[in-house]
Amino acid sequence: MKYSAYVIVVLCTLSGLLRAEQTYTVKNERFESFNGMKETVFHMSELKLIGRQRLINGTVTFDDDMASDHYKAQIELFSSPQGDDQYKKLPMGVPRTPICEAMKDLYTKILQPSLIEGENTNFPFIPEEGLCPIPKGEYYIKNVELNIDSWPNQAPRGIIKAVLTLFKDEINVGGGTLYIRIEDRE
Ligand SMILES: *[C@@H]1O[C@H](CO)[C@@H](O)[C@H](O)[C@H]1NC(C)=O
Repeated sequence: MKYSAYVIVVLCTLSGLLRAEQTYTVKNERFESFNGMKETVFHMSELKLIGRQRLINGTVTFDDDMASDHYKAQIELFSSPQGDDQYKKLPMGVPRTPICEAMKDLYTKILQPSLIEGENTNFPFIPEEGLCPIPKGEYYIKNVELNIDSWPNQAPRGIIKAVLTLFKDEINVGGGTLYIRIEDRE
């Protein structure tokens, strides 16, 4: 009896440590898509935040198979500590990176934990060794809440504006801007 109580305490402590809870919470505030400069290959205009929980829902479309010979992705991050329109660019973010490398190294860590193929999306699961090209198609994203377990331990509080842009031969071919509110975990 005494021994099993001890085991339970140890297991609870371990699982708490392993879960490594974030010091912050994230809430989707707003999403806007934008078109490319000359043409739009990456369409996010059918993506919306829905309901009180502002879950991400809708479809994204790639008009082309995207490989690193032509396509690059970039994420710029801006912070507004007061939640007003005063944004400062953050040094984090993803410089313009060939698409397949960006999907393999960044998508898998930052977004893939939120997306489960066959459950809340039909976007293919990207394995550790990567997936190239990223196949063209229309993909649904159904009521997705961001899973931030694998995100950095520290994040500036306030509003963060994340701008995802895809480039074809260095020309903007579409993307989207997500505003998220970062608050202290209670
Ligand atoms: C959620 O997205 C799907 C497309 O994947 C769409 O058919 C549906 O109407 C959307 N739901 C809401 C509430 O907008």
